[in-house]
This record gives sequence, C-alpha cells and structure tokens, in this order.
Amino acid sequence: MSKNPDRKPAAPVENNPLSLDVIDGALGTKRLGTKFHYFQEIDSTNSYARRLAEAGAPEGEVVIAEYQSDGRGRLGRNWVSPPFSNLYCSLVLRPALAPAHAPQITLMAAVALADTVAAFVAEPPAIKWPNDILIRGKKLAGILTESSCDAKRIEFVILGIGVNLNFPRERMPETIRDRATSLMEVGRKSFSRENFLRRLIQDLDRCYGILEDLGFDAIAPRWEAYFALRGRRVRVEMVDEVISGTATGIDGDGALLLEAEDGVLRRVLAGDVIPLGA
Ligand code: BTN
Repeated sequence: MSKNPDRKPAAPVENNPLSLDVIDGALGTKRLGTKFHYFQEIDSTNSYARRLAEAGAPEGEVVIAEYQSDGRGRLGRNWVSPPFSNLYCSLVLRPALAPAHAPQITLMAAVALADTVAAFVAEPPAIKWPNDILIRGKKLAGILTESSCDAKRIEFVILGIGVNLNFPRERMPETIRDRATSLMEVGRKSFSRENFLRRLIQDLDRCYGILEDLGFDAIAPRWEAYFALRGRRVRVEMVDEVISGTATGIDGDGALLLEAEDGVLRRVLAGDVIPLGA
C-alpha cells in the first residue's frame, strides 16, 4: 500500500482501495478515529455502526466501506454508493447532550464537513438545511444521523457521512446526475480519499470538541455562515404539510426558522427544502 497518497498518479476510479495505514496513528485527534472497521462491501456503514454501538463500542470508532449495497439517505432515500470512488463512513458518538439537543450533532457535522470540503477545492461549499453540502447548487455530500436515546440522555449517535469524491458525472445514475456533483467534477482532477478522510475526522474532532466544550452557540454562527438559503424564498415539504416562506436561519435546537407567507414564524424540524426562484 502506498505511504504517500498525494504522489499517486491520478487514480483509476475502480479497484484502488483505501490505504487506512496512512491514516491510522497519524490523526492527532482527541476523541474520534480511535479504531477503523474497514469493509470492501457492506449493506450500510450506519447499520453496522449501530450494531457496534449497541454492543457497547466506545465513542470514536469509525466504520468505512468501499461499497454499500444498501446505502441509506435521509427521509428513507437510497444513497448511491459505487465502489472505490467515494467516501462512506459512520462514526459512533456518545455525546453528553440532552436528547432534545441531538440535532446539534448533525449541524456540527455539517460545519466540519464544509470546512473539510473548503480545504480541498477553491469553490466555496454551502449548507442546505439541515445537512446537505452543496457546491454550485449541486449536492456533494450528505449526512445521516441516527440516535438512540432514553428520556434523559443520548445513549449513542451514529454519524453517517457520504461524500462524492472521484465520481465522474457520466457515471452518476440519471436519477441524480442533474442534482449531484463530486469533488472530481468541481476540482477537475481526482483526489486522495485518504487525505480527505483524515482531514474530515480531524475537522469533526475539532468541531465536536467545540460543541461539547463551548456549546451550540459557538457552532451556530459557523453554520449560518455556510447557510445557502438565508433570506431566500423556499418551499418546505414535510411528511404531512408543505409550506412556503422565507428561510431566516436556525434556532438553538437546529430547527429551520421560516417566515411563512402568512407572516407567521414557523419552526421546521424535518423536511426537504426547495429554493424558489432566483
Ligand atoms: C442524505 O443526504 O440523504 C444523507 C446521506 C448519508 C449517506 C451516508 S454514506 C455513509 C452512511 N451510511 C449510510 O447508509 N448512509 C450514510
């Protein structure tokens, strides 16, 4: 396995496995990346990480796979997960937060992921509430958090992250081709997945530390700075309702604040946000 992924020639998209040996031990993190569980193929890294957490895995363990046969997205959607080109990883977290504050983990992770993306390409990333990372309005990465809580505390959070890295547009299924992008499409070259993963774990570790030490007030302005839709007219599709209005920001528990067309300020906890007009 290569010790210097930066010097590798432009990688063929297939059959170029992740070299975790260049990451393990060189992370310098406080909590995350304590152990890597690597799979060539798995159903979903989130499902495996959940099983690990239920069996008592400590905070910081990372599940990573080259290919997911049942990659899962938000709202019951599928996450397109071709082999050897992208990043599919899930972390076990055990945050000292009240269950009502679990959404803060997703927002914190979106900030960390946007920071990581910004370190690799000149084009600035944006966050679409709650946790899509966009470049030029197209989706580059997504986050799926799944929690287990009792009445008083969070037992664990599985933080799942999928990033389109070396995923050329012509290989994207037609269902996502017009809405998705990849680092390769933006940067016009292939990227070392090891370098991206290392930086991502470090950024998550840093932002997670800020959230735990200083609270969400220290994360929210960073999230707002990446927020793509502030002041924009949007339609929000929820399970049982569709509303339109102007997105104004987020509140302390991560809910989207929307000034609805009737002037009422609404808090949206889950749904799909679609920008309206320019
Ligand atoms: C979304 O934007 O809908 C969230 C996508 C999350 C995808 C990642 S890939 C790694 C982890 N395992 C999964 O099954 N899903 C998440």
